[in-house]
Amino acid sequence: MPAILLAVTGLDPQPWEARLRALAPRRDIRLWPQRMGDPAEVAYACAWHAPRGLFARLPRLQAIFSLGAGVDHVFADPELPDVPVVRIVDPDLTMRMTEYVVLHVLMHHRRQRLYDAQQRERVWREHEQAPASAVTVGVMGLGVLGRAAAVALRSLGFCVAGWSRTAKTLPEIETFHGDAGLDAFLRRTEILVCLLPATPATQGMLDRKLIRKLKRDGAAAGAYLVNAARGALQVDADILAALEEGSLAGATLDVFADEPLPAASPLWLHPKVTITPHNAAASDPRPLVANVLRQIERFEQGLPLEHVVDRARGY
Ligand code: NAP
Ligand code: GLV
Repeated sequence: MPAILLAVTGLDPQPWEARLRALAPRRDIRLWPQRMGDPAEVAYACAWHAPRGLFARLPRLQAIFSLGAGVDHVFADPELPDVPVVRIVDPDLTMRMTEYVVLHVLMHHRRQRLYDAQQRERVWREHEQAPASAVTVGVMGLGVLGRAAAVALRSLGFCVAGWSRTAKTLPEIETFHGDAGLDAFLRRTEILVCLLPATPATQGMLDRKLIRKLKRDGAAAGAYLVNAARGALQVDADILAALEEGSLAGATLDVFADEPLPAASPLWLHPKVTITPHNAAASDPRPLVANVLRQIERFEQGLPLEHVVDRARGY
């Protein structure tokens, strides 16, 4: 039987391997690097930041399954062979991201950082609170995760705008697309949520120039950023500068160009920055191994793989 290779770095392979063995006891499961066996027997690679050049050494590889929604870690391999690259689309991962976005948008909207600071000083002081309906949240990226987050935010009463590469229609959400639609989207956005993939087109786009276009004089009393996408999109120095000059009132950052975020980064202790360790939507092996095995079964029955990434677009 064609073997499944688990090739991961930066996360513990053990629960993934255990889950694969539990759900597919008759499958030949291999683990890179210690139990890889003959590379010619590997048909499927389940990967998260696999070492560069590994896929090219698997001559019978049929498909690569990213163990997350993003595939930038796969495309970072300059020797990537010409096989389908499949990404995760799963309700478990989508719900985790929706939770994260809602949590952090509400945290900024309800000024929770300010109340936390007051609590440390034993200060009992209420601040004026705008209703969600007076605040516009802009979601960059209206794919699987962006759409789910946008719908959840709308259901809480926020005005929601969305921006994507191609035109989209979503009930009660004002949509914009392409370079031509970006400024109009930013001009009405007070809380910016980034759920774009990391591609050459999105690299470094969360910079000072973009941040300065956000709406600062609205009901949210400042502009806020929530980046739960990829660190490659954000320019850390520009975010710090924007916080200093006031064009940004606060930021939640889950992702960084360099992960783990180095201890020396000034972002760590910035009073207006909330940092999480790239866990906005962590990949849980319990549902996701089942998801990948379903795909392999489909493939072996001659059905098309789902959620195959477009190589030219990079997502
Ligand atoms: P997706 O379904 O592929 O959606 C991507 C969206 O981005 C699409 O709406 C797409 O527009 C838009 N887009 C791409 N390039 C663009 C550009 N140059 N200009 C404007 N819009 C652009 O992806 P997803 O499943 O929602 O995931 C989004 C990203 O979230 C992933 O790539 C990953 O990096 C990140 N992520 C992070 C975590 C975490 O824990 N922090 C977890 C999961 C995922 P079109 O629809 O017009 O093509
Ligand atoms: C996590 O970062 C993912 O891409 O799913």
